[in-house]
Amino acid sequence: MDGNGRWALKRGLSRFEGHNKGADSVRTITRACRRLDIRALTLYAFSEQNWNRPVAEVESLMALLRRYLLEERAEIMENDIRLTTIGRTHRLPSSVSEPLADLIRDSAGNQSMDLCLALSYGGQEELGDAMRRLAQQVADGTLAPDAVDEQRIGAELWSSHLPPLDLLIRTSGELRLSNFMLWQAAYAELFFTPTLWPDFCEDDLNEAIESFRLRERRFGRTDENIEALLQAND
Ligand code: IPE
Ligand code: MG
Repeated sequence: MDGNGRWALKRGLSRFEGHNKGADSVRTITRACRRLDIRALTLYAFSEQNWNRPVAEVESLMALLRRYLLEERAEIMENDIRLTTIGRTHRLPSSVSEPLADLIRDSAGNQSMDLCLALSYGGQEELGDAMRRLAQQVADGTLAPDAVDEQRIGAELWSSHLPPLDLLIRTSGELRLSNFMLWQAAYAELFFTPTLWPDFCEDDLNEAIESFRLRERRFGRTDENIEALLQAND
């Protein structure tokens, strides 16, 4: 969800106002995904690297996050949405971690959609943590090195509760992943748009989904390969 700062700058507003407007997009897009019956939506709200921003900006983002959790709570519960997180959430201040823990606990039984907030998240950090845990199990003798395969690694990731990543949307014209779901992005379809996150609306989401729909996902196979597979399944 990139481009809040540039959105504000273009209008002579403060970066905070950009973040504030970005939170409106979060609401709009979450509602739209729920309506479209999207299984899971993960929002890259705050990266592990974002801690390096000026203290005042980090504080205003944390205040916004707290407000979001309190204000969205009712709608999340009413819409049967399960809220989860990925990331080093222990780094969050208690003003955020407390309402966050409450909502995670209270929404745990909801089943219609997963809304996952990536908070203090980094893809390399996620992989690093998983590798360390696996290495420890090997050192303890509870895991054979040969058993460390793609499935085992995937199961060790913070995101192991989420379905495979299908579509990854990057706003604001940047053409990089910026440490987001590196492992999970292996076969995800990527959608890059110049639209700044505060301007990203339901039409933009529909455009991304339409683009996704028109792509052929081969997962390393050939066209004929897939045709044969589909016929075999008929
Ligand atoms: C992304 O917008 C929002 C967060 C990191 C929370 P930016 O703040 O990165 O916006 P730009 O890149 O300065 O436009
Ligand atoms: Mg940015």
